[in-house]
Amino acid sequence: MLCGLLLLQAAALALAWDTFVVPHTAGADDTPGLLSLVTNHSSDATILFSKGVTYNIFTAIKFPILTNVEIRIEGNLTYPTSIEEVQAVVGGLQGFPGSWFTFSGGNNVTLRGSTDPKWGWVDGHGQAWWDAVQQVNRPHGWAFSHITNGVIRDMKLFKPVAWSFSTSGSNNLHVFNNKILAVSDTSSFPFNTDGFSAGGNNLLFENNHIENGDDCLTVGSGAHNITWRNSYCEGGHGLSIGSLGKGGAVADVQNIHIESTLMKSCLYGARFKSWTGGNGLARNITWKDIAFIDVPFPIYVTQNYWDQGVGPKPNSSDTLNNTHIQDFLFQNFVGTIRDKPYVEGSCVSDPCWYAVPNATGREVAILDLYPGTATNVVVKDVFATTQTLRPVAVMCNSTAVTNDVGFKCWNGPFIRTKAGF
Ligand SMILES: *[C@@H]1O[C@H](CO)[C@@H](O)[C@H](O)[C@H]1NC(C)=O
Ligand SMILES: *[C@@H]1O[C@H](CO)[C@@H](O)[C@H](O)[C@H]1NC(C)=O
Ligand SMILES: *[C@@H]1O[C@H](CO)[C@@H](O)[C@H](O)[C@H]1NC(C)=O
Ligand SMILES: *[C@@H]1O[C@H](CO)[C@@H](O)[C@H](O)[C@H]1NC(C)=O
Ligand SMILES: *[C@@H]1O[C@H](CO)[C@@H](O)[C@H](O)[C@H]1NC(C)=O
Ligand SMILES: *[C@@H]1O[C@H](CO)[C@@H](O)[C@H](O)[C@H]1NC(C)=O
Ligand SMILES: *[C@@H]1O[C@H](CO)[C@@H](O)[C@H](O)[C@H]1NC(C)=O
Ligand SMILES: *[C@@H]1O[C@H](CO)[C@@H](O)[C@H](O)[C@H]1NC(C)=O
Ligand SMILES: *[C@@H]1O[C@H](CO)[C@@H](O)[C@H](O)[C@H]1NC(C)=O
Repeated sequence: MLCGLLLLQAAALALAWDTFVVPHTAGADDTPGLLSLVTNHSSDATILFSKGVTYNIFTAIKFPILTNVEIRIEGNLTYPTSIEEVQAVVGGLQGFPGSWFTFSGGNNVTLRGSTDPKWGWVDGHGQAWWDAVQQVNRPHGWAFSHITNGVIRDMKLFKPVAWSFSTSGSNNLHVFNNKILAVSDTSSFPFNTDGFSAGGNNLLFENNHIENGDDCLTVGSGAHNITWRNSYCEGGHGLSIGSLGKGGAVADVQNIHIESTLMKSCLYGARFKSWTGGNGLARNITWKDIAFIDVPFPIYVTQNYWDQGVGPKPNSSDTLNNTHIQDFLFQNFVGTIRDKPYVEGSCVSDPCWYAVPNATGREVAILDLYPGTATNVVVKDVFATTQTLRPVAVMCNSTAVTNDVGFKCWNGPFIRTKAGF
């Protein structure tokens, strides 16, 4: 009997899952207390930011390796309001871990926000940075790195300084119900406020809401088996693969499925970008059921991404190495192309960094490809109109891609071909 009780107690202890509340001191930096708490309880624990408290995350944190841990954000979190204070941390001699919140790895880790609309916000005070066009020593937001079996849910970022989430080196993640609001209240632009930077394997992103000033999703080299669906992107630079192959890098991106997303007033809808001189392969990538409203470049593929500031666009006839692309499908794209004159907020050069020579502004698809490096690129079930109701156009060079791309491959009006139905 006694023995049985002890066994029960032992079992209860083994299953013990405790919740630990992050300590808070008004006016002081709560990061050291947070780090101490997580270090003390890096397994089988919930680390709770309490509702009703605004925590001061005045310095960056690098979490230890975590096992069976939930970081639960029911309170608000605030960065320093002072740009200089953040810059001192990012540029500091102590060594900045790369992001304001950096995970270094672990198993079964959940990062969870609040469903209360008033609480659970992480406020980066980005507006001051955007207004000052301050781009020195900007911190990335959340690096959910090297986690196996992880969840990011219900997180809410308000005015992040720049880049929001990245998942490099992680496996088996579910990232859902998150919200990023990187919207400027002034005419200044929220530069580099990327939403989700997807790296790693077997990741599912869904039901995310992003309003920002750069890529909504960006899939980097090394990413495999990634699904993104049922989401909303507004104001940014599209559902992107890349950029790949910068500085001769060898890319490897495979099995990416992007589906059911509304692109509202974004510069791009679906986008692929690789630099000339790179190498490697991006294959089996599908963008499907994409609705777009007020988007200048609904489908844009370039193997010739380059830095306008550095010199002229490399000639596509040069036989440089290139990231090969294979089996790209753009299916069921419905919406309106922005063809009224406008200048996107990130344009600070003349011509703009996104200007395409000889484009009419009415292109539903631009395929800027290198001969012999692109196979099986198909665009089908496209239903697009322009805001001015002028005919929809395309750009495509038939010497660079030999399969039926779903429309007449030329620089001219959009004419559907067999593969396009
Ligand atoms: C972590 O553990 C140390 C040593 O037991 C203790 O002094 C410290 O207060 C703990 N930190 C927190 C935040 O509980
Ligand atoms: C993983 O973590 C969750 C809490 O986030 C916990 O409920 C679950 O039991 C953990 N899974 C395992 C296998 O320990
Ligand atoms: C939490 O932070 C957000 C973003 O700064 C803010 O809008 C909200 O009012 C805050 N919540 C409370 C209860 O102060
Ligand atoms: C990707 O998914 C396929 C099919 O489910 C699987 O065979 C493969 O191992 C996965 N790749 C990685 C890197 O997990
Ligand atoms: C292509 O990727 C999808 C996931 O997006 C996967 O289900 C399918 O098996 C892959 N096909 C090939 C031929 O690798
Ligand atoms: C590309 O070719 C054109 C015409 O031959 C030439 O004027 C231009 O300088 C070349 N650009 C580069 C980057 O080599
Ligand atoms: C198509 O590409 C070929 C070879 O790269 C080039 O010579 C030709 O000028 C291009 N055509 C157009 C219309 O750009
Ligand atoms: C092309 O790639 C191969 C293999 O990665 C490399 O050996 C070669 O130097 C590259 N050539 C150029 C012009 O970059
Ligand atoms: C733009 O069009 C003109 C006239 O057709 C042509 O001479 C020129 O090569 C084109 N430029 C590019 C970059 O395709």
